[in-house]
Amino acid sequence: MKRNIALTGMMGSGKSSVSQELSKLLPDYNLVDIDSEIEKSTNKKISEIFLKFGEPHFRMLETDKIQKFVYGKNQIISLGGGAFEDEFNRKIILENCLVIYLKASPEEIYRRIKNETHRPLLAKKFSVERIADIIKRRSPNYEKADVIVDTDNKTPYNVAEEILGVMNG
Ligand code: S3P
Repeated sequence: MKRNIALTGMMGSGKSSVSQELSKLLPDYNLVDIDSEIEKSTNKKISEIFLKFGEPHFRMLETDKIQKFVYGKNQIISLGGGAFEDEFNRKIILENCLVIYLKASPEEIYRRIKNETHRPLLAKKFSVERIADIIKRRSPNYEKADVIVDTDNKTPYNVAEEILGVMNG
């Protein structure tokens, strides 16, 4: 059994809320949210980092944080939606974590995040089509996860229970 659990998937696929539910069901695990760790150590919001320093700089900070946590144990690691695109990130995450891809349809993601404003990659041209485009581009990598869980029409608690079932099964 791998030492950690990592959640990947598109923005709005429920990584943060599912990881919180999962950590209630797994009290011995430590919950780590990579975006929050970046915000804590830079004292800046993700959107501000994108705006001031650009995406490549954000990706460097993201890899740094992944490296910092991935070699630990008993952690639930909630990744940013783009973290699994990078080959090096993917390699170290897959080596050290049971990776769960939270899959959601573009329509469901649109519904979940239409009232949020903090996601720089969706700030412009926000639409179901734009979300579908990103999913299409990223799915070959998301699908390299160990487990794929469909999240449409499920609560974060339902999804967390399903993950637990996979772990115990
Ligand atoms: C990103 C997703 C965001 C955050 C950053 C980039 C992406 O995290 O890491 O805005 O490339 O999909 P969430 O998936 O938690 O929104």
